[in-house]
Amino acid sequence: MAHTTSALSAAAADVLRLNDRGDRTVAAPRLYPHQWSWDAAFVAIGWGTFSVERALAELRHLLGGQWRTGMVPQIVYSDEGGYFPDVERWRTDGVPTAPTGARTSGICQPAIHSLAIWLIAAQAERNGPRDLELVERFLRETFDGWLRWHRWLDEVRSTHPTGLMEIHHPWESGMDNSPRWDRPSAAVVPGAMAPFRRADTSHVKDASERPGDDDYDRYLWLVEQLASVRYDDVAAREVIDFRVGDVFSTAVHALSSDRLADLGERLGRPDDATALRSIAARARAAVAATIDPETGLARDYDMRAEAWIATETVGGFAPLICGADAEDFARLVQLLAGERWCGHPALAFPLPPTTAPDAPEFVSRTYWRGPTWPVISWLIGWALQHHGEHDLAERIRVAGLKQLADGTFAEYYDSLSGAALGSHDQSWTAAAALAWETERP
Ligand code: SER
Repeated sequence: MAHTTSALSAAAADVLRLNDRGDRTVAAPRLYPHQWSWDAAFVAIGWGTFSVERALAELRHLLGGQWRTGMVPQIVYSDEGGYFPDVERWRTDGVPTAPTGARTSGICQPAIHSLAIWLIAAQAERNGPRDLELVERFLRETFDGWLRWHRWLDEVRSTHPTGLMEIHHPWESGMDNSPRWDRPSAAVVPGAMAPFRRADTSHVKDASERPGDDDYDRYLWLVEQLASVRYDDVAAREVIDFRVGDVFSTAVHALSSDRLADLGERLGRPDDATALRSIAARARAAVAATIDPETGLARDYDMRAEAWIATETVGGFAPLICGADAEDFARLVQLLAGERWCGHPALAFPLPPTTAPDAPEFVSRTYWRGPTWPVISWLIGWALQHHGEHDLAERIRVAGLKQLADGTFAEYYDSLSGAALGSHDQSWTAAAALAWETERP
């Protein structure tokens, strides 16, 4: 049944309630029964549209899993079963830098959280003094935690001469099997490890919607390599078969560092705000320097092969997320709106597919290799709006809501047929619907 707009918001809020576990939200009912880092940030944005208090609880719970290094982990595990890798597989228990009050994976995900806090604070301002007080208390209590997260990303993960954020696992990018990682992944050669059985393919019946078994062998091998050095940040660089400068994560870090700087100013922390502005400026410059003069798209960097990775994927639009000089920005806006991307005639909706439909690696229904992910459409649309590109932002918002009117709140959608794929009732998809509805002009 197609939803009208207010019914869509109500249905989206119901998805968050369905997945609510009190102070955290599972990313999806069966496929992802834990709290994921970047999901939690988007989910908090969704909660924030109707409960600032619940939104802040989401982020507080995630921060409860913060590592002593400052890293905010990719997964804060619950006791619910049915997901692989389970927490034991990571062997993070007893690692000296791991948190003691939570069980987590040993890697991270894109740092979207400070954007979430900033948006929740803006909503609180519209709501009035009670919610504003909640946000201010939250900031007083957690600002240092978020600051340590951004500093760790800067000081530990952004030391390569390119200035790009270094990732050690495709899961850290959030875009697991994107063609962006095909080339560096080819150099990952799994060795002997304990056997495992995937759980995802028993939840998602059509295995072609998910990464392949070969991908999983490599994913688990990289976990073995990181566990073998007990997640030591320096030793990891020596042992890991996958060291990549992730341009999209770098752009997210730049955007979020600026938002945390805004929040620091508001809290009366001008020195920290200045430091965060420098972090943002460095990350933004690193993103700009990756732009391929031929295509205008930003590129990732394979640090082991010492080579640029030029793929036609949504990662190439990273400069739209963090901002860029006017010429680069305008060129990317034109490319995104044009026939190779959102304007491609075969697309079900004029939204950014994760890979360009005419690229050889494109597969319309396979996870990060071509489907449309509403949360990515929302982020790109929000950033366009923020950087003054209102027309394309509004077109994405309208198309995004149309896509979600089927009410499945799917994890991702076949970019050609429009079919709902992966999990249904995915929390961050519901959050995207709520955010888009709130942004209605
Ligand atoms: N996206 C991963 C999965 O599919 C985890 O981050 O399990």
